[in-house]
Amino acid sequence: MQKERWKGAGGNAWVELQALTDRVMTGFVPPLVDGLSGTVLDVGCGTGATTVAAAQRAERVVGVDISEPMIAAARKRAPDLEFLAADAQTHTFERFDWVISRFGVMFFDDPVAAFANLRRAGARLRCIVWRTAEENPFMTAAERAAKPLLPDLPPRDPHAGQFAFGDPERVRRILTEAGWDDVQLDELDVECAMPASALEGYFTRIGPVGIALGGIEDEALRARVIETVRPAFAPFVHDDEVRYTAACWLVQAR
Ligand SMILES: C[S@@+](CC[C@H](N)C(=O)[O-])C[C@H]1O[C@@H](n2cnc3c(N)ncnc32)[C@H](O)[C@@H]1O
Repeated sequence: MQKERWKGAGGNAWVELQALTDRVMTGFVPPLVDGLSGTVLDVGCGTGATTVAAAQRAERVVGVDISEPMIAAARKRAPDLEFLAADAQTHTFERFDWVISRFGVMFFDDPVAAFANLRRAGARLRCIVWRTAEENPFMTAAERAAKPLLPDLPPRDPHAGQFAFGDPERVRRILTEAGWDDVQLDELDVECAMPASALEGYFTRIGPVGIALGGIEDEALRARVIETVRPAFAPFVHDDEVRYTAACWLVQAR
């Protein structure tokens, strides 16, 4: 289910908004890549922004992603780097010094099996995941506002999808059962910003409302959803900029 989403509309939207998502998520790059050395596997690398940043520190970096359109965009961005279109849950990787990921490890069907596979792929783990939906009101603003118009919007599952790693005890349990040691979670709060002019393009493409809008042909309903959702972002709009704090975990293990 999650796989299909990234292989299809979800992946395509990220490719189209690559410049914007790069910009919004730039603050996550230093905590992810500072201090890397040796060989690195970037899991769920998407269009390759963090793979490129890691390659400036490490000797060799390979990016892996399940989405063909994302990997194609990554190869276009960095033709000299190695990218692999594969399912990180089950692919047999060679051995790396580091396994890293920015928001690419929350979508596994069987997280224990997937992280056991990644443990075979790397000596050290460093990934950034979202804390809970409640701690990230920007991320759910669109669906809260749109719900009366789109009653079939799927409710957020705290154990699957974007917020699957919000509960620190669950993360510790998954990684420990998968064979990782010295599991450490540190709160990571990152200030994110985008031009206010980009907001509509963002919420109409990315996230549950963006995905739902992609399937709506009724133009009047589409327009009503957009008109209803826009004001929900008012608390985050400051003049010509949208700003929010992303509440995440920096997860590390050996
Ligand atoms: C939120 S995006 C993050 C992309 C990228 N890491 C970034 O920060 O720009 C999540 C990525 O995880 C990828 N993904 C999801 N499940 C995966 C799996 N089982 N194996 C490999 N990649 C996966 C998606 O295709 C998507 O590119």
